[in-house]
Amino acid sequence: MTAPPGAALAEGPDRPFVVAARRLVTCDPSRASAADPLGIVEDAAIVVRGGAIEAVGRREEILRPGSDLEVAIEAAGVVTPGLVDCHTHAPWVGSRDAEYAVRMAGGDYEAIAAAGGGIVASMRAVRAATTDELASALRARLGRMAALGVTAVEAKSGYGLDEAAERKQLEAVAEAGRDARLPRVVPTYLALHALPPEAGADRAAYAGAVARSWLPAIAAAGLARYVDAYIDRSAFSVDEARPVLERARALGLGVRVHVGQFADVGGAELAAALGAASADHLEHVAPEGIAALARAGVAAALLPVASFTLRQEPPPVAALRAAGVPLIVGSDANPGTAPTESLPLALALAVRLYGLTVAEAVLGATREAARALGLGGVCGAVRPGLRADLVVWDLPHENAIVQPWGAPRARAVLRDGALIAAAG
Ligand code: NIG
Ligand code: FE
Repeated sequence: MTAPPGAALAEGPDRPFVVAARRLVTCDPSRASAADPLGIVEDAAIVVRGGAIEAVGRREEILRPGSDLEVAIEAAGVVTPGLVDCHTHAPWVGSRDAEYAVRMAGGDYEAIAAAGGGIVASMRAVRAATTDELASALRARLGRMAALGVTAVEAKSGYGLDEAAERKQLEAVAEAGRDARLPRVVPTYLALHALPPEAGADRAAYAGAVARSWLPAIAAAGLARYVDAYIDRSAFSVDEARPVLERARALGLGVRVHVGQFADVGGAELAAALGAASADHLEHVAPEGIAALARAGVAAALLPVASFTLRQEPPPVAALRAAGVPLIVGSDANPGTAPTESLPLALALAVRLYGLTVAEAVLGATREAARALGLGGVCGAVRPGLRADLVVWDLPHENAIVQPWGAPRARAVLRDGALIAAAG
C-alpha cells in the first residue's frame, strides 16, 4: 500500500475496485450476533464503486474465477469502518500548556476557569484569529486525525462566545468541511460553553441573546446541524440552557449536551426531554437521569481523555450499559481537558479505565457514533449502500486498536473510496 493520499484506487470514477482483508470488522448489525457483536468476516473482500460500498463478502464469493475485479488494496491485517469522533472542540487555535502544567501541579480546572483562564483563554486566541487562520489550523488537525484512522468528526464552536466569533468558528468548520480529502465534518453550535467577560455575571441575558438572535442566524445560514450547551455547576443551569435548546429543536436542529462533568444538575433529564442525540461526559449522573436517557434513546458519549486529565472517577458505565443506553466514545479534542487529537487513545482509555469491551469501544467509535451524529445511513459500518469509509490497519486484530500505541497505526484511510491518509 504505497499510493499517496489523493491517489485514485481505480482507473475511472465508475470502475469498481476491491479492498481485500484478512480480517474485516463490518459493524453490520445484519452480520452481528451475541458471540460476534462486530460482524467479523475472515478473508473478506469489499467491492467499492463510485465511492460507495457495493458488495461485502468472503473473498472467494466476491473474487470468483473469471471475475475482472481488481484488488487495489491487499490488507494483511484488520480492516474496520472509518472511525467516527462524536465529540470534539476542534476549531481552536493557541495552546494552554501553561494551564496544563498548573493543573498537573495540583491546580483546579474550575478555579482556573473562574479566574479567567480555561475556556476564556482559548476564547481570546480564537477571537484574535481570522477565519482563514482558524480554518487552516482545523484542516491541519483534521489531517492528523485522518492519519489516526478517523473519517468523520463532530466539531463544536464554543471558543468565540460572541455572535461574530462563534460564527467565525463555524465558518471555518464549513470551509474545512468542503475538503473531500479530509474527514467529513458535522458542525455543532456551542455558544453556551462559558460566559464571556463582557457579559458580566448575567448568564440568563447571554443565553437569551443566543436563543433570540444568534442561533436563528446560524440556523438560517446552515452553519450547524446540532446545538450543544455545557450544563454544569460552574457553567449553565438547566433553566438557562433550556430556551436555547428548545429553540434549536424548533429550528429543526438536533441537540447534544455536555452534562454531569463535575456535578449532576439535571442535564440528563433535560437531554432526555429534548430527545437529544447524545448526553456527553456523565461522570456525575443519578439513576433517575440514566433511566431518563434510556427511555428517550439518548446515547451516552464517554470522554475518557477528559476524565483522565482531570483525575476523575469514570462515569457509571455499568449502570448505563445495564439500562440499555447506547455507549459512544469521543476524543473531546480540546486545548484544556483533552489535549489530544487521538480517538484511538480515547478508545484505549475507554477500555482500560472505563471497562468497555473492545466490541463496545469499536462500535462506539463507528456505527453507534455515526448514528448519534445523524450519519447512520452514510458511514460507520462496512455494508452495501454506505459510503466507502475504511481503515486498513497495520495491526492484526481489532484488540490491538485499543492498545495505547501512541503512534498512528492506520496504513490506509479511505473516505468515499478515496485515500485520505496513507503510511509508507
Ligand atoms: O468537554 N467541559 C467543557 N468543555 C470541554 C473543555 C473545554 C476547555 O477546557 O477548553 C470539555 O471537557
Ligand atoms: Fe467537550
